[in-house]
Amino acid sequence: MNKAVRRPAKLRGVITVPGDKSISHRAAIFNAIADGEATIDHFLAGADCISTLQCLRSLGVSLSRRYNRVTIRGAGRNGLKENLNLIDAGNSGTTMRLLAGLLSAQPFQSFISGDESLRARPMARVIQPLKEMGADITGWDNNTRPPIIIGANLNEKPFTGLRGITHQLPVASAQVKSSITLAALYAEGETVIEEPAQSRDHTERMLWEMGADLVSDGNIVRVKPLDHELQPWSLTVPGDLSSAAFWMVAAAVHPDAEIETRGVGINPTRSGLIEVLRAMGADIELRNERVECGEPVADIVVRSSRLRGTTIEGDIIPRLIDEVPVLAVAAALAEGETVIRDAAELRVKESDRIKTTTEELSRLGAEIEERPDGMTIRGVSELRGANCVGHGDHRLVMALAVAGLAAAAETTVAGAETAAISYPSFWEDLERLSTSQLAPSR
Ligand code: S3P
Repeated sequence: MNKAVRRPAKLRGVITVPGDKSISHRAAIFNAIADGEATIDHFLAGADCISTLQCLRSLGVSLSRRYNRVTIRGAGRNGLKENLNLIDAGNSGTTMRLLAGLLSAQPFQSFISGDESLRARPMARVIQPLKEMGADITGWDNNTRPPIIIGANLNEKPFTGLRGITHQLPVASAQVKSSITLAALYAEGETVIEEPAQSRDHTERMLWEMGADLVSDGNIVRVKPLDHELQPWSLTVPGDLSSAAFWMVAAAVHPDAEIETRGVGINPTRSGLIEVLRAMGADIELRNERVECGEPVADIVVRSSRLRGTTIEGDIIPRLIDEVPVLAVAAALAEGETVIRDAAELRVKESDRIKTTTEELSRLGAEIEERPDGMTIRGVSELRGANCVGHGDHRLVMALAVAGLAAAAETTVAGAETAAISYPSFWEDLERLSTSQLAPSR
């Protein structure tokens, strides 16, 4: 599907973005192994989180979804059922990696795969530590990629359980940390996971709320085995900062804009975008800061701003990793140079985001160059319209739409439907903000 985007005269409104993707996945998976019923409100009904629900159903978990409300009857810590069919994670790396950890600890066989993009993504980062814990786990292409097969040797070698390990991640990754944490709940002895910089900590917060014995101290997480059932946890998922990011940048780069995004998660392990945009000179106001369901939340107001270039590197990278494509749009329209480094992880996301972002923003007239671990962007005063392609990558598609909202002439984005992976109502929201059909905040 192609979508055309034009620069509207004004970009204004108050908006609520869909629920956080990372929290939605976790709320479903953790409640699936809890003992009792939980209701998850404002669940992200995007394709990735629907994949998680389908995988859990296929493992015998009883759950139902009505729009953004999911009700799960937890199977208990030892209640998952063997699925002799393929467990299909779709496009979702989080689903595959978290389930790989959880299923490695079960005394049955599992076969997990996904779509073409997911089948190209690196899995050695979970397979290797899970093997070290004693899991019978294999991956395609010499244990580096999906499909993942668990328990292939179960007939010859009965499952005797996992053991705790100390594991140092070479690159910060919440998916890897969470995968090992889930396995660790079932292992004998403590597991210690150390990251070079702290990644998002939703798993630690949520499992702790549900009664797991786990402590997190910045870059180090210690997990003790579960000797009791997890308590079910009903929650309302906060709005996804990674989705709000598109409207924050759109408002900052558009000449006549004010957008308020309500109820957005601003967990400090995720909020690098706010810090970087502020350092670039963006007019950002956080209103009604509060804690909801164990996560910090705020209403975020962003107005038209004069942006300047900056350097984005080091420990902040995992705190804004998914926002880099849209930050590149902000940098393309900022005064001066922006350098993004230490972000080689972008090459193994839903697309090689260093390559695809550089290619597509260049079409729009951005002065942008690839670096092995990031990009160098020299701001221009205006982008021109162009025909762009989304490379099957939801975040790139939405970043290009934001560029289109500020470009001098019409921009088309091919593969626009991919936005639904994480933001099903993205194109409707864009339309409503562009025509200012949403009430202004003041
Ligand atoms: C996620 C972690 C990040 C992020 C992804 C969601 C999660 O991936 O890019 O969109 O929910 O744990 P990595 O763990 O691979 O950095």
